[in-house]
Amino acid sequence: MKRTSRSPRRTAGLVAGAVAAVAVLSAGVLTAPAHADATLGQLAAAKGRYFGSATDNPHLSDPVYKQILGSEFGQLTVGNTMKWQYTEPSEGRFDYEAADTIVELAEANDQTVRGHTLVWHNQLPDWVNSVPSDRLLNVMRNHITNEVTHFKGRLIHWDVVNEAFEEDGSRRQTVFQQKIGDGYIAEAFRAARAADPNVKLYYNDYNIEGIGPKSDAVYNMVKSFKQQGIPIDGVGMQAHLILGQVPSTLRQNIQRFADLGVDVAITELDIRMDLPRTAAKDAQQANDYTRVVEACLAVSRCVGITVWDFSDKQSWVPSVFPGQGAALPYDENYNKKPAYYAITAALGGTSSPSPGGGACAAAYKVSSQWQGGFVAEVTVRNTSSSALNGWTVTWTFPDGQRIGNLWNGNLTTSGSSATVRNANYNGTLGAGATTSFGFQGSHTGSNRVPADVSCTSS
Ligand code: G3I
Repeated sequence: MKRTSRSPRRTAGLVAGAVAAVAVLSAGVLTAPAHADATLGQLAAAKGRYFGSATDNPHLSDPVYKQILGSEFGQLTVGNTMKWQYTEPSEGRFDYEAADTIVELAEANDQTVRGHTLVWHNQLPDWVNSVPSDRLLNVMRNHITNEVTHFKGRLIHWDVVNEAFEEDGSRRQTVFQQKIGDGYIAEAFRAARAADPNVKLYYNDYNIEGIGPKSDAVYNMVKSFKQQGIPIDGVGMQAHLILGQVPSTLRQNIQRFADLGVDVAITELDIRMDLPRTAAKDAQQANDYTRVVEACLAVSRCVGITVWDFSDKQSWVPSVFPGQGAALPYDENYNKKPAYYAITAALGGTSSPSPGGGACAAAYKVSSQWQGGFVAEVTVRNTSSSALNGWTVTWTFPDGQRIGNLWNGNLTTSGSSATVRNANYNGTLGAGATTSFGFQGSHTGSNRVPADVSCTSS
């Protein structure tokens, strides 16, 4: 199904309608919520922006994931399957089946799509590296022409070239740089424009969110493209950020690109932390997300924000930065984190954690023990006078104990620290109610009870 791309601005008027529709429903259907909060996508649209998420084909088999992806966001980015490795695995053999699946899903959910990415040194099939210098420009143009033509009219943006600069502002020595030379980026943009005059063409990179040598290099390139009439419409700031390190020059930097006459998008936002999560880190992360959203809203040409997937269950971070993660607004059980509510508030919404959110306590008991092994049970109690919607228990083992298998909770470990979050069926506890989880562990010698068992509500 072909469809013309839809401006994110056109969805702004839908917000009031969507909320009203739910209000009518709630009058007749007892199970519907009495009050429905606007989604991130709706709130952003009301500000003339989009709020989106990256996604990848394997995740779509999880129905809870798919439901949130389809309802909460106004825009999707295809996280992997538009890359060269997937779309032209051997020369001249094009395959868009996986990417089409995501574009069709977005269209069915009335979401816009950013295309990612045409020319990148990573996830590039081996054959491209072996193309002789005198053919590579044509091979690159052919790839761009074919892919942009395939998706013509269905995308709002294309990341035409991705990550072409080093941290010091020099050109990354990719196969394109080495065999075609400095002009390959301009040639890529020209080929993309020739194939689709309407889709917005972006240069996309990481560590260009603040002012520095790398963003200066991109700035100078965009400036010279504008002067020479080379077709570029936008700059994507990936924004793979670190807790507490949102660049202080973010807003100023977005503004200076806008002043060159290009749009800016925050294209791959996540904010990673050292694991395990704590309430203090969650609060810092919420603050960091707020600053990013506010910086974008402060510049009229900042057109939208995309998180690099929305749940910690799917994040790329832990596999690349061991010991780090929890970078996204939903936890791995699809519970909304403080970051989610902070984004909502920064976008002008009123959604907040369900009432209660109260306090909890955890009690750790060794139920049986034998040479080298033990079973422990942890009881979680809602100690507040209202309902609690999600809990997290943490502790540190004093004797190097290890957890084998755990039931009725979701475990993350880091060294001797353990973090257990509620399973999707035992997170809600009425005032004074209890639940428990258990695990089988191993020990070598001593098996003392941890002294620092604590519970936080989420
Ligand atoms: O598809 C294979 C699967 O068959 C195999 O079993 C599995 C084993 O490891 O690997 C799968 O491929 C992985 C692919 O993601 C799909 O899941 C690759 O190993 C893995 O390297 C690849 O990682 C992607 C990464 O780009 C590659 O650099 C991440 O998912 C993707 O989120 C990430 O996205 C990039 C942006 O494109 C550009 N900016 C940075 C961002 C984060 O690294």
